[in-house]
Amino acid sequence: MDFKHVKKNEEKSVLEKKEKVDQDFWRQKYHLQGIVGLINDPNGFSQFKGKYHLFYQWNPLKTDHTAKYWGHSVSDDLLHWERKSTALRPDTWYSKNGAYSGSGIVINEKLYLFYTGNVKDEEGNRSSYQCFAISEDGENFERLEPSIVNQPDGYTRHIRDPKIWEKDGKYYAVIGIQSEKLEGKAVLYSSENVKDWKYLGEIAGGNKEPLGDFGYMWECPDYFQLKDEKTGKVVDILAACPQGLEPQGDLYNNKYQSGYFFGKLDYEKPDFEITSEFTELDRGHDFYAPQTMEDDKGRRIIVGWMGVPEEEDYPTVKNEWLHCLTLPRELKVIDGVLYQLPIDEMKSIRGEKTEFNGTVNGETEAGKGTVYEMIAEFSDFSDDFGLKLRTGENSETVIKFDYKEKKLILDRSRGEQPDKKPRKVYLGDIEKLDLRIFVDNSSVEVFVNGGKEVFSSRIFPQKNADGIKVFSEGNVNIKIEKWEWQD
Ligand code: FRU
Repeated sequence: MDFKHVKKNEEKSVLEKKEKVDQDFWRQKYHLQGIVGLINDPNGFSQFKGKYHLFYQWNPLKTDHTAKYWGHSVSDDLLHWERKSTALRPDTWYSKNGAYSGSGIVINEKLYLFYTGNVKDEEGNRSSYQCFAISEDGENFERLEPSIVNQPDGYTRHIRDPKIWEKDGKYYAVIGIQSEKLEGKAVLYSSENVKDWKYLGEIAGGNKEPLGDFGYMWECPDYFQLKDEKTGKVVDILAACPQGLEPQGDLYNNKYQSGYFFGKLDYEKPDFEITSEFTELDRGHDFYAPQTMEDDKGRRIIVGWMGVPEEEDYPTVKNEWLHCLTLPRELKVIDGVLYQLPIDEMKSIRGEKTEFNGTVNGETEAGKGTVYEMIAEFSDFSDDFGLKLRTGENSETVIKFDYKEKKLILDRSRGEQPDKKPRKVYLGDIEKLDLRIFVDNSSVEVFVNGGKEVFSSRIFPQKNADGIKVFSEGNVNIKIEKWEWQD
C-alpha cells in the first residue's frame, strides 16, 4: 500500500484552510486547539527532556471524525504550546483508518507512544491494533508493528485507547473494550519489555460487580493513585468514558460520559474493586476522553477534550475548525473528595486587574471583558443569585445558584451553540460560594468551591459581547476580582 498521499493531503488542507481559520474571532487565546480541522482526545500526555508533550486526535482534512492523525504540541508551562510536526498519521497498514487514542511514557530516555491502530475492511469490519511508536528526540517517531493484535476471547473488536504505566519494573496498560454481550469494560495487560504483552483480565465494567448495566463501550480508561492530603491514605482511581448511559436527572446529560470510581486495583486477580459511585469529572456541556500524567513536580494533571463525540454542529465548522482541549487541571484528593484545581501557571497570564465589591439586590454591571480570569465570592444570601458573562446581542452565559434547589446551573442558551439545555450540579447547604472562572473567546470553565466541581462548556457569543453582570433575587454580598488575559 502506498501512503504518500496521507502527508500530502494534510499539508494541502492546512495551507488551504489556515487563513480562514485564523480570521475566526472564536479562536481561543490560551487553549490548545488544532491549526485547522477537528481535534478530539488528548493523547500521549507526558514530560520528556524537560518539556511537556501533549498530542491530540486530529483530522486535518475536515471537521468530522473520518480521519485521525496525532497532532503534537510542546510546552514549558502547560499554557503556551508550540506546534510540532505531526507525530502519527494513518499511513501504515495497521492504522490506515485512524491512529486512534493512546498514551505516552518515557523509558530509557526515549518517548514511547502506545496507541490504537484502527483498520476497516471493505465491508466495514473493524480490526484494532495496539501499537508503539518510539522517539529519541521527542519529535520524530519510529513506528513499530502492532504489539497486541485484536481482542481477547469474549470481546468484540472495539478495543482501544491504551493507558500505560510502570510499576516495580513492569509495564501495565488499561484498555477500553466491549464484551460480546455489548457491555463496556476496562481490561488490564502487562509486559516485562514493552514489546510482548500478556492479557491479565477484566478489571471493571458493566455487569461486573458492583455495577449493573453500564454502557455498551468504555473509551479512554485511565488509572492512577493519589495521596489523600488530609488522611495520608493512598487512593486508587479508575477513570473511564462509558457510552450508552441514559440521563438521570442532572446526571449524564451529555451524549457520552466521562467520570471516575474510587477503589483498589488488585494486580493479581486482576480486579479494580470499586468503592464509590461513578462520579462525572465535569458538569459542563463539553468534556470527554480526559488523560492524566504525573509531572516532575509530583502533580497529577488532567486535560480533557472540550467536546463530546457526535456533537459536530458547532458554528466554527463554517470556518474549518472544531473543538479544543480544556485547561490542564491539577487533581487532588482531600479527605476522600477529588478536587480539580487550575494549575499555578494560570496566574502567569493575569493582566490588568479590576474589582467589584458590594451588596447586590437586582441586576447590575460588574465590569467588561471577553478573555479573562475571574474569582467571584458570594456570601450572605437567602435567594437565587449569579453572574452573567459575555453578555451582548443574542449572547449571555449565566451561572446561577438556585437557592431552593441548592444547585449551581450553567445556562448557555443564548449564543450560537447547539444544545441549549442548562447543566446543573447539586451543591447542598452552602453559606458561601466561590467560583474561579476562565473565559476564553469561545469557552468558559468554572471551578466551584475550590475545585469540588467543574463546568467546562464551549460558548459562541457575538464578537463584542463583553458584558459582565451580577444579579440576585435578594441581598447577596459579592466580591469579584478579574484579570484581563495578558500573554
Ligand atoms: C474517544 C474516541 C476514542 C478513539 C478516538 C478516535 O473520543 O472515540 O475511543 O480512540 O476517539 O478519535
